[in-house]
Amino acid sequence: MDYDRTRMPEAYDRGRAMQPGVLALWLDELASLLPRRPERIVDLGCGTGRFSGGLANGYAAQVIGVDPSEKMLREARAKDLGPDVSFRTGSAEAIPVESGWADLVFMSMVFHHIGDRPKAAAECGRVLAPGGCVAIRGPTREQAHRVPLNGYFEGFEALYLARMPSLAEIAAPFQPEGFRPLGHKLVEQVSQPDWTSFVERTTLRADSLLASLPDAAFEAGLGAMRARPTPGPVRDWVDLVVLQRP
Ligand SMILES: C[S@@+](CC[C@H](N)C(=O)[O-])C[C@H]1O[C@@H](n2cnc3c(N)ncnc32)[C@H](O)[C@@H]1O
Repeated sequence: MDYDRTRMPEAYDRGRAMQPGVLALWLDELASLLPRRPERIVDLGCGTGRFSGGLANGYAAQVIGVDPSEKMLREARAKDLGPDVSFRTGSAEAIPVESGWADLVFMSMVFHHIGDRPKAAAECGRVLAPGGCVAIRGPTREQAHRVPLNGYFEGFEALYLARMPSLAEIAAPFQPEGFRPLGHKLVEQVSQPDWTSFVERTTLRADSLLASLPDAAFEAGLGAMRARPTPGPVRDWVDLVVLQRP
């Protein structure tokens, strides 16, 4: 999806704001799967830089955020995340970073957007130093049954199943590059404290699947959400896969 042709960049940070403690949770989960603390990170498909500053501060690392969307990068640059974070225009298929620079390539909610995955895996292998890791955070087909939006929006589940990769499909393009699986976690996170805030957040449509639905299906789905609330905090389950370059 070309984010520059959508209205998502302006709404993304409000629509995807992390609840207190969620960034720290992810930094801990990721650190637990890595062989050592990363010092030079490519935040590939960084978008508005939602993770870029946290990666730099949490690991005392230099971070280069890379994204093809100028609008997403504009939001990221406006945050002024300090001297250890910079942003470059590029894509997973052509990463504008010198060979061997990184010890971690981090991708959050990006893998399903990548058009040429074999090329992206080769590029990850090129920019990583020997022994460096790629960490892929995102939705998988295995978790389709737990997605909180399922059952409210006509066509949503079919789109989810069509677009999201399985765990095996995430690992597959890295195998010819010699990467070996280092670890996997299914991380449970609180996405909103209650249903009302979840509906409010959903109205922002800062989600590529919601953005792909016809407007009528989107509006009807919001109506269904308001009519059928689920009690308690809204949780979701996100996979984290780490593979290591030879
Ligand atoms: C859902 S956003 C995730 C942004 C950020 N990583 C986060 O978790 O908040 C997906 C991002 O992937 C970017 N993207 C789309 N195609 C890409 C590609 N081929 N290579 C790298 N990034 C891509 C989009 O421009 C968008 O910023």
